[in-house]
Amino acid sequence: MTALDPEVIRKDFPILGRTVRNDKPLIYLDSGATSQKPRQVLDAVRDAYELHNAAAHRGTHLLGEEATDLYEGARAKVAAFLGAESNEVVFTKNATEAINLVAYAMSNATAVGGPERFRVLPGDEILITELEHHANLVPWQQLCERTGATLRWLGVTPDGRVDLAGLDEKITGRTRLVAITHQSNVTGAITPLADVVRVAHAKGALVLADAAQSVPHQPVDVGALGVDFLAFSGHKMLGPYGVGVLFGRYELLAGMPPFLTGGSMIEVVRMEGTTFLPPPQRFEPGVPFIAEAAGLGTAVDYLTALGMENVAAHEHELTAHALDLLGQIDGVTIVGPRTTEDRGGCVAFEVDGVHPHDVGQVLDELGIAVRTGHHCAWPLHRAFGVQSSTRATFYVYNTHAEVAALAEGIRHAQRFFA
Ligand code: ALA
Repeated sequence: MTALDPEVIRKDFPILGRTVRNDKPLIYLDSGATSQKPRQVLDAVRDAYELHNAAAHRGTHLLGEEATDLYEGARAKVAAFLGAESNEVVFTKNATEAINLVAYAMSNATAVGGPERFRVLPGDEILITELEHHANLVPWQQLCERTGATLRWLGVTPDGRVDLAGLDEKITGRTRLVAITHQSNVTGAITPLADVVRVAHAKGALVLADAAQSVPHQPVDVGALGVDFLAFSGHKMLGPYGVGVLFGRYELLAGMPPFLTGGSMIEVVRMEGTTFLPPPQRFEPGVPFIAEAAGLGTAVDYLTALGMENVAAHEHELTAHALDLLGQIDGVTIVGPRTTEDRGGCVAFEVDGVHPHDVGQVLDELGIAVRTGHHCAWPLHRAFGVQSSTRATFYVYNTHAEVAALAEGIRHAQRFFA
């Protein structure tokens, strides 16, 4: 048993007390899509609106000051959580926007003859992987289309990991950026980022890690990883929707042109032109979303109190249990590593002869919420020769009894469709 007790944690999550279809208790195994939110986070969002609602960074009144403190306080918490400095944390709408921010900053630098470091020219390369979910794939395709650069990618191994064989040749002198998942949202495989960073930096390429599935589930220290950029969403880590994070090394952010422009990010505006504030404000146009940031800050507090080592250990045990039980079911194939080594709490699988949508529906009848489809990772499914899969993802509030219920639910689906 780990130091984390899901039965105690569950009491903080009002939604886990409700029943769902057929009056069944909710068994929520879809935290990879979005996590549930504890009462503490819901209260923080409500308090921000009820007690401190004002436009941060503006006005001289007390509420404005409180709103600014909430927003900047949340930034400081996120920075500490990642081992970063506050001015290296940019609030975005979500991981998708964070990744687009870097892609658009690069094409903006290219368009206006900005810093060489960010320019992408015809013949340059962006390297991604076949495991990326669409948020870390489509923006790079689009950047290549806008600039004439070439998109290259690392393949997937039979057990669902990024194929790092020949990495040294695949990252070339023309590679401008490597955009790579830290943890696959389908196979759960964890990428050894430090190895990728070493090769990329030796060739002068930047590295962006998509950490949407890792930051919520394991300790992440940006300094130890050595990445240049790292993106994740608040709503997958007990926080509210509408707030995500781009971490960027300050020295890089300081040279990067903005993505979205407008108020809040400017220094001096004249009709002839505008100068911009330093990071992170340069990348945060418009009135700051204080309630969402406050909610994320509280989610960080919550996870920090649990201890990210404990969170990871708990999910590790649930995953081991799931791999064991599902591995015993004839006709069930795991899409991803069969062991828990370098693997997070995300178990995708196929059931012979039963479409994932049908598996999902039968499970739903039993109160079990899973995700079915291609999980926004279509090329990965294609690489495995399947259209779609069923996916269970675990978090701090899941129990071993729920894992057992999943396995029993799959057997029930098999009997139903036999
Ligand atoms: N949010 C997507 C998922 O469920 C990518 O994994």
